Amino acid sequence: MTQLADALQLPCGVTLPNRLLKSAMTEGLADPLGRATPRHATLYRRWSEGGVGLLISGNVMVDYRYLERPGNIVSDGNGGEATLAQMAAAGTAAGNQLWMQISHPGRQCTRLSNREPLAPSAVQLRLGGLFGQPREMSEEDIRAAIAGYARVAGAARTAGFTGVQVHGAHGYLLSQFLSPRTNRRDDAWGGPLQNRARMLLETVRAVRATVGPDYPVSVKLNSADFSKNGFTLEESCQVAQWLQAEGLDLLEISGGTYEDFAPLDGSTRKSDSTIAREAYFLEYAREIRRAVTLPLAITGGFRSRPVMDSALAEGALDVIGLARPLCVEPDAGHKLLADPQYRLPEPEEGLRLGPGVFGPYSSVALFKALNVQASVAWFYRQIIALSEGRAVPEPMGALRAYARHMRDEIGLAMARRRQLRAAGRDLQTYTADGAASGAD
Ligand SMILES: Cc1cc2nc3c(=O)[nH]c(=O)nc-3n(C[C@H](O)[C@H](O)[C@H](O)COP(=O)(O)O)c2cc1C
Repeated sequence: MTQLADALQLPCGVTLPNRLLKSAMTEGLADPLGRATPRHATLYRRWSEGGVGLLISGNVMVDYRYLERPGNIVSDGNGGEATLAQMAAAGTAAGNQLWMQISHPGRQCTRLSNREPLAPSAVQLRLGGLFGQPREMSEEDIRAAIAGYARVAGAARTAGFTGVQVHGAHGYLLSQFLSPRTNRRDDAWGGPLQNRARMLLETVRAVRATVGPDYPVSVKLNSADFSKNGFTLEESCQVAQWLQAEGLDLLEISGGTYEDFAPLDGSTRKSDSTIAREAYFLEYAREIRRAVTLPLAITGGFRSRPVMDSALAEGALDVIGLARPLCVEPDAGHKLLADPQYRLPEPEEGLRLGPGVFGPYSSVALFKALNVQASVAWFYRQIIALSEGRAVPEPMGALRAYARHMRDEIGLAMARRRQLRAAGRDLQTYTADGAASGAD
């Protein structure tokens, strides 16, 4: 019977020291040109020393024009190679794994980053006017993006990251290609699932060709989108089989998009059974487990060691993914491994702007999204505190966290525009590798 402390050998030959995974959390700590900073190293050293066997970085962007948020790391020859290597060294200091998550936001790129994002089809994300009307990607855009994921994977290996994860979940670019709601194309990249999955599969193939057979390659995939006409569980099972045939080392299962952010708004916690209420993607993972044999991780809601033990014992998954608790307890890995009854903190339970603020409207998509954003902003503040070597949790409410977060994001977005202009990089025309040579 699998135990939390057991090692796991991946298909590529690399071994995970235990069954705990820190799931990706965007840090927002890069400088305005997207270069890693010493704060990344401080943060990842704390997590490395915390006992979790596999750390996944926050999403690193393949194209400086399109960010998930200002403060994302961008890996494109922008001069950030030395600090990225410091982050990798600090994040593996305790002998654990540190993999880089690689992403492109597609239409989920706020106006703060770019008013005209790219997407599989020109289907705008309508959330309070925060996102621009996307331009449909041309064949050339698609090829450039695939090459971008592969290029960043190569840079991750060079920098000292011990693996990579392609972000195929949560409504970002690859997840937009998978979903018929956002992918309305009638060419080879749209229509039947085989075509919608082509972008993800070609990306994984290109990444593998770059990093070689002995290096871990993972994908984070939605079990389902939870939105009308979105990517379904049946489709997810099929895509998992195709990924297995590509020789994937670890499939991490999550769910939701910005339109219905199931992992973060707690709405999936309605089940009566304790285990399903806590690990809300477990029932989806059981289906995926029936379809594939490759190593599976599930992230979302795991908080107590007994629930983790029974999920592992049942065999539905091989690795337990954790995110928010590690922002307030960076050494939670050691505590979980040492104490069979350990329960992680759940500060998210009290973090809402509404219903106090939004009253009966708090279930409206925009207000739901604002609640999620404010709650996430609170975790961003904890990540900043960790990266500056301070104690966590920092006491503050969701409203104050959100206000500070927005102030910082807008400041950083403005600095980014100024510095990109000064470096001769614009937000429309892609300039390939090394184009940031004008950057200081
Ligand atoms: C502050 C924050 C940042 C996140 N950033 C990312 C990210 O960059 N990439 C990603 O795949 N998921 C991201 N997520 C989602 C988490 O990886 C995870 O799927 C989700 O928080 C559910 O797990 P949990 O219940 O253990 O927190 C983020 C979540 C939070 C709270």
